[in-house]
Amino acid sequence: MRILSKLRAGIAITIVAILSAVMFVDMNEAHAEYGDVVINNYSDAAGMRPVVFPHWFHRIRFRCKVCHADLGFKFQAGGNEINMVKIIDGQFCGACHNGDIAWSVENCNLCHSGTPKTPTQVHESTVQKLVQPTGAPKK
Ligand code: HEC
Ligand code: HEC
Ligand code: HEC
Repeated sequence: MRILSKLRAGIAITIVAILSAVMFVDMNEAHAEYGDVVINNYSDAAGMRPVVFPHWFHRIRFRCKVCHADLGFKFQAGGNEINMVKIIDGQFCGACHNGDIAWSVENCNLCHSGTPKTPTQVHESTVQKLVQPTGAPKK
């Protein structure tokens, strides 16, 4: 019995070590991938890095309805006037990032991971690549 519980403790420590290694790597990565939503209405101005929201990561885990109906996220990059007071109050990202459904709000860098000055956008969306801004010279 004693050996078993020591073994269990050993395994738990290993898992914690692996998890912190993973977190460490995550926290040092700062890039947006295809389809990510960069949200930067207030971050730059507040001296924080822009938020990178990995849409696909969430879309494969939850139904659209959870966020876009139940939690009230509008279908528009940057269209939700999200701020930290609302998040800590359990709205928007804070409905899940509360240390219960997902890791909590203390992990600033996991959300604020964008390259400074990246404007609000759907990162390299097909639409942005195909549609030419009006008035831009044709190539
Ligand atoms: C779960 C994701 C998430 C986490 C974790 C998070 N934030 Fe934010 N934060 C956001 C989003 C989304 C916005 C809105 C971004 C924008 O429009 O610029 C935001 C906006 C902000 C802003 C500007 C608006 C305001 O409320 O003043 C500040 C400052 C800020 N965050 C600081 C922090 C700090 C400090 C931490 C850690 C203690 C943190 N955030 C953790 C998602 C997060
Ligand atoms: C975990 C929450 C969550 C889920 C689940 C989710 N979304 Fe979103 N969606 C967001 C957030 C956050 C934004 C960005 C809003 C902002 O910037 O304020 C967004 C933005 C969008 C946009 C506008 C940006 C773009 O990419 O064109 C569309 C369209 C969209 N979502 C469609 C969907 C569809 C379709 C599904 C289901 C297959 C889905 N979403 C599932 C949270 C979610
Ligand atoms: C419906 C619940 C839900 C909402 C709303 C939500 N998230 Fe998440 N998010 C999750 C879950 C669950 C995970 C996975 C947590 C884990 O691995 O422990 C996650 C993971 C993440 C990750 C890490 C992705 C990775 O590659 O590991 C980021 C970054 C993130 N969320 C940002 C946000 C931001 C920013 C918002 C608000 C704009 C938000 N989330 C809203 C549930 C949610």
